[in-house]
Amino acid sequence: MDEPIRALAALVRERQPCVVLTGAGVSTESGIPDFRSPTGIWAEYDPMEYATIDAFRRDPVKVWEFYALRFEVLVSAEPNAGHLALAELERRGLVQAVVTQNIDGLHERAGSRDVVEVHGSIRTASCLECGEQVPLDAVVAALRAAPAPSCSRCGAILKPDVVMFGEMLPVDAIERATELARRAGLLLAVGSTLEVYPVAGLPEETVSAGGELAIVNRGSTPFDGLASIRIAGGAGETLAALAEELA
Ligand code: APR
Repeated sequence: MDEPIRALAALVRERQPCVVLTGAGVSTESGIPDFRSPTGIWAEYDPMEYATIDAFRRDPVKVWEFYALRFEVLVSAEPNAGHLALAELERRGLVQAVVTQNIDGLHERAGSRDVVEVHGSIRTASCLECGEQVPLDAVVAALRAAPAPSCSRCGAILKPDVVMFGEMLPVDAIERATELARRAGLLLAVGSTLEVYPVAGLPEETVSAGGELAIVNRGSTPFDGLASIRIAGGAGETLAALAEELA
């Protein structure tokens, strides 16, 4: 393990600025299941029935049943060694920003300051009818009393402020993520299958602009061939070892 870590540390030092792109694989060690590994969420739930905006409009209560289960896990999760290592590397000026596909807010809770949440977050839920925005604790409280939280102003069922399939990503987030990837000397992708666009387009942005790609992931990705370094290790242990090597 230490040779690849030394090589990755050298790349982080030499190819600044380093931007980190994270996926669900950095949160599994916090007890949050990922999506596409054999024990992932999509092995149990059909994303077409629970994670598309059409599914939500068709049957919001059914989609909230899915999200209520997820919220239970998400609100009790704590940042893990991988999140903490990335926050430490940012403090040392070795990581410029974290672009995350995760909606769990764990990077910020670990201390990362510059976090670009390209798939939104569970921090708030919004009313699609009147625009009312409601914080997570109010949503969790509402879910204890009803199968779905409804808007206090107009009564419509609220939608979690996470990007569902068929929805546009938050424009400012994906534009900033693309800009960061274009200017990155190194894009370090951790814990993602890199299968979902437009985020999966970020590695190409970096490499075609002259930067390099490194991947830390247990599973394979379509961009493994593009990576200067690929480590098939655990996110937490690998990022902690990287931070140690760069101390
Ligand atoms: N260490 C390293 N890799 C891990 C770990 C771990 N502890 N746990 C899981 N992995 C790997 C899995 O093997 C898998 O290759 O992380 C990857 C997670 O990939 P996905 O489950 O596809 O998650 P992600 O890439 O974030 O999905 C992107 O898809 O469904 C949508 O909106 C959802 O943001 C999500 C997007």
